[in-house]
Amino acid sequence: MEQVLGYIEGEQDRYLREVADFIAIPSVSTNAENRPDMLNCANWLVDHMRRIGLQNAQMFPTAGHPVVYGEWLGAPGKPTILIYGHYDVQPPEPLDLWESPPFEATVRGENLYARGAADDKGQVFIHLKSLEAFLKNTGTLPVNVKVLVEGEEEIGSEHLAAFLKEQKDLLKADLVLISDSSMFARDVPSICYGLRGLSYMQIDLVGPNKDLHSGSFGGTVHNPIQALAEIIARLHDKNGKVTIPGFYKGVLPLTRTERTAYRKLPFSEKKYARELGVKALHGEKGFTTLERVWARPTLECNGIWGGFTGDGAKTVLPSKASAKISMRLVPNQKSDKIAKLFEKYVKKIAPRTVTVSVRNLHGGEAALTPIDSPGVKAAVAALAKGFGKQPLYQREGGSIPIVVQFKQILGLDTVLLGFGLPDENAHAPNEFINLKNFFGGIKTSAHFLNELPAYLPTKKS
Ligand code: BES
Ligand code: ZN
Repeated sequence: MEQVLGYIEGEQDRYLREVADFIAIPSVSTNAENRPDMLNCANWLVDHMRRIGLQNAQMFPTAGHPVVYGEWLGAPGKPTILIYGHYDVQPPEPLDLWESPPFEATVRGENLYARGAADDKGQVFIHLKSLEAFLKNTGTLPVNVKVLVEGEEEIGSEHLAAFLKEQKDLLKADLVLISDSSMFARDVPSICYGLRGLSYMQIDLVGPNKDLHSGSFGGTVHNPIQALAEIIARLHDKNGKVTIPGFYKGVLPLTRTERTAYRKLPFSEKKYARELGVKALHGEKGFTTLERVWARPTLECNGIWGGFTGDGAKTVLPSKASAKISMRLVPNQKSDKIAKLFEKYVKKIAPRTVTVSVRNLHGGEAALTPIDSPGVKAAVAALAKGFGKQPLYQREGGSIPIVVQFKQILGLDTVLLGFGLPDENAHAPNEFINLKNFFGGIKTSAHFLNELPAYLPTKKS
């Protein structure tokens, strides 16, 4: 271990150069024009996996973007871990708000800035470097490792479940390890044990059959933007509850233990509001901010458009208006069911003056992972060694839909070991990863590999 940790310490400059190469490939999964970049990025990973000493590294085509896989299985009798991450990133727009170009990894202060720095290329890279440190220095790993990096996480992992079903044998393991979330705060490492699910919807409204002069026609027909605003305004009540009938049915309540534990976490609602620049916080009454984000279902309007939005003024009464609306879900809500309830309710409350259509764009289920599993125990020990601090337990508001499928399809529990920070600007301009977390993450990953056999002595796979 001494040698491995010393190597990690000594190779920091090279790590930064290499992760910059990985980041430089604009692997934006949602953009058709980035398709070649997706392939380049997958190729980069296959090549990198081979270079660090993984075996059987290859790309698997899917109906969408390719999956990348590599393994090292030279520790018979030892546990096998499946490390999962994603090489796709969110679009970098709006570009003018970036202080350095999104695909040029730039160190400023103690952070590395770039799209994908934290979500999730930087965190995938953390594990590749800990594997490399063992393989280059000792020629072996303390456990068997399979690495699976997909290219569609940011667009709902549409084709990954099919891949898991097809490749059950290849992916046999004892547990899944994912670094695609955040620590609780700076210098406060944490284990995440809950993620929310998602139903992502689009509403399209059509009023008159063409754009109209708002002087000649204003006051005669229902403006679709107005009608859409009326619909959206009815999706919450005055207590911040979602009004869709059946929305809360079966929602797993917070336990008293959880509520007590969350109240003890080092979190200030005032500071949170100040940092976000809002005058006051807002949300479902009766719950604290952490409870709302981690354990309560919510509905947000992600975008709304229609009519004239250019510079200057245009007196138009538009024919169409649309909105994208997503709902974050918690355990026992089902994404498809919620999507149906949403559609039914929106159609019911839509005024008769417009034609409304509702589409389900994608979704995923919420996950709760066990906190007393051997993997979590090894992760706690690894964080304590890697960061010199005992981690705390938290949930997250974001979604990693494949976590539930790992359990359902492969029978595997997941350990969520995040090295990001809550203010890392994921999905926004100036995304970054804190370098202390980046290098501490590589050491923690090495400790995790080293610790795991003590907690999971018998090989199942
Ligand atoms: N890294 C996030 C998931 C995440 C976000 C974990 C915040 C913990 C805290 C991931 O890449 C992501 O953004 N997922 C999407 C999934 C969706 C497109 C199905 C999300 O949560 O919006
Ligand atoms: Zn991510």
